[in-house]
Amino acid sequence: MDPQHPQLTFETRAARVGEWRPPTTPSLVEPIYQSTVYKFTGLDQVDAVQEGRETGYIYYRNGTPNHTTLESAIAGLEGAAAAVVGASGMAVISGMFLSLLRPGDHVLCDRVVYGGTYNLLSKELPALGIETSLVDATDLAAVAASIRPGTRLLHVEAISNPMMQVVDLPALIALAQRHNILLSVDATFATPYLLRPVEMGADLVCHSLPKYLGGHSAAMGGVISGRAELINIIRSKLSLYGATLAPFDAWMALQGLKTLALRMRAHSDNGAYVAQFLARHSWRGHPSVMRVIYPGLPHHQQHTLAQRLFPQGFGGMLSFEVPGGRSGADAFLRALSAIGSISFSPSLADVSTTVSYPAGTSHRLLSEAQRAAIGVTPGLIRLSVGIEDKEDICADLDRALAAMPNPIQAQHNT
Ligand SMILES: Cc1ncc(COP(=O)(O)O)c(C=O)c1O
Repeated sequence: MDPQHPQLTFETRAARVGEWRPPTTPSLVEPIYQSTVYKFTGLDQVDAVQEGRETGYIYYRNGTPNHTTLESAIAGLEGAAAAVVGASGMAVISGMFLSLLRPGDHVLCDRVVYGGTYNLLSKELPALGIETSLVDATDLAAVAASIRPGTRLLHVEAISNPMMQVVDLPALIALAQRHNILLSVDATFATPYLLRPVEMGADLVCHSLPKYLGGHSAAMGGVISGRAELINIIRSKLSLYGATLAPFDAWMALQGLKTLALRMRAHSDNGAYVAQFLARHSWRGHPSVMRVIYPGLPHHQQHTLAQRLFPQGFGGMLSFEVPGGRSGADAFLRALSAIGSISFSPSLADVSTTVSYPAGTSHRLLSEAQRAAIGVTPGLIRLSVGIEDKEDICADLDRALAAMPNPIQAQHNT
C-alpha cells in the first residue's frame, strides 16, 4: 500500500509514477530534458509562455531547456544576439534559405561550398522558384556584378569544404551592406575560436555541430546565430518544418563546446605541422603528395588574407592530392586502413585524425564536370587533423604514402 495515496489502485499509481521535482541543490551539469511536453497550471500560463512573457516550454519540437542552454552558449561565443539550433547543419542552412527567401528572390553563393549546400542551391531552391547564382566569392568584382535588384542573400564558407578557400570577409560584409543584402557565413571549419563573422558585421553565421563545436563525432545538429529578428524567423520555420535537434544531442554538443578553445589550439598547431610535413613529403625523390591546400601554408592562394583573418591559427582541416587519381586515392586509403590508426570517416573535426574522400562522399552528388570546375579532383584527399601527438600523425601518413605504388612506375605500367 502506497502511504501517500492509499485510495488509488496499483494501475493508477503505476501510470503516474516518476513525478520529477527539481532538487534544491542544482546539479553542476544541466540534466537532459527528455520529455516531449511540459505541464501548465491553466490557460493564462499557456498564453504567457507562448507569448514569451514567462520563461517556459510547451513541446519538445518548439524547444527544451537543453536547446536554450546550447543556443545562448553559442550566441555568446559568436558575439551574436541570438542563436537557434536544428536537427543538422543542413537543417539550419535549408531553414535559413527557406525562411528568408521567397519565390522570385535571388541568392548568391560561393561556388566552392560543402556538397549539400551546393546541391541545395543548384537544384532544390531553383525548383521552388528561388533563383540562385554560384559565384567565385574571392572575386569581389564578380560578386558585385552578380548582384541584381532581387538579390536578397549572399552565402559563403569562411574556410571552404574541401578546397580550403578563404574569402575576404570584411570586403564581402561591406559589399553586402552597400547593396542591402544579407550575408550568411558557414564557419564550420573556423569555429568562433578562430573567427566571429557576426562580430565583424555579417548577418548570420552557421555551423554543423558534429564538427568542431561538438568535437567528438557523437552529437548531430546545426546552429545559426545572428540578430534576434532574423533568428526568430528561422526558429519558427525550423519548428514548423519539424527540424528539431534531440535534447540529448544538444546536451552532448554543450559538453564538447566547453573544450573548444583547447581543442582548436591543438587542431591548429597540429594542422600547421602536418600541412608542412605533407608539403615537403617525397617518396624516393618523387613527390607522393602533389599539392597541399592549407591556409597556413605560404603558397596558399589566400595566405596573406588568411593571416589577417585568423591570427590565432588556421584550424585542423587540409586537403592534399595524391598521384594516380581515384586508384591512387584508394591505394592511400587502403594503406591507412591497414595501419589502423587514422580512420577513413566521411565527416571531420573529431579529436582523432580522420580522412575523407570528397569526390566519393561530401561532393558525390555533383557531376564530374561540376567537381572538376571547383577543384575536387579524383585524387583529392581531405584530412581532418586531430589532437594526437603530431609526430604520430605524420608517422602514420608517412607509412601510408610509402605503401602506395611508386607513381612513376604506375605511370609506366599503364
Ligand atoms: C562546411 C559544412 N557545412 C555544412 C555541413 C552540413 O552539416 P550536417 O552534416 O550537420 O548537416 C557540412 C557537413 O559536412 C559542412 O562540412
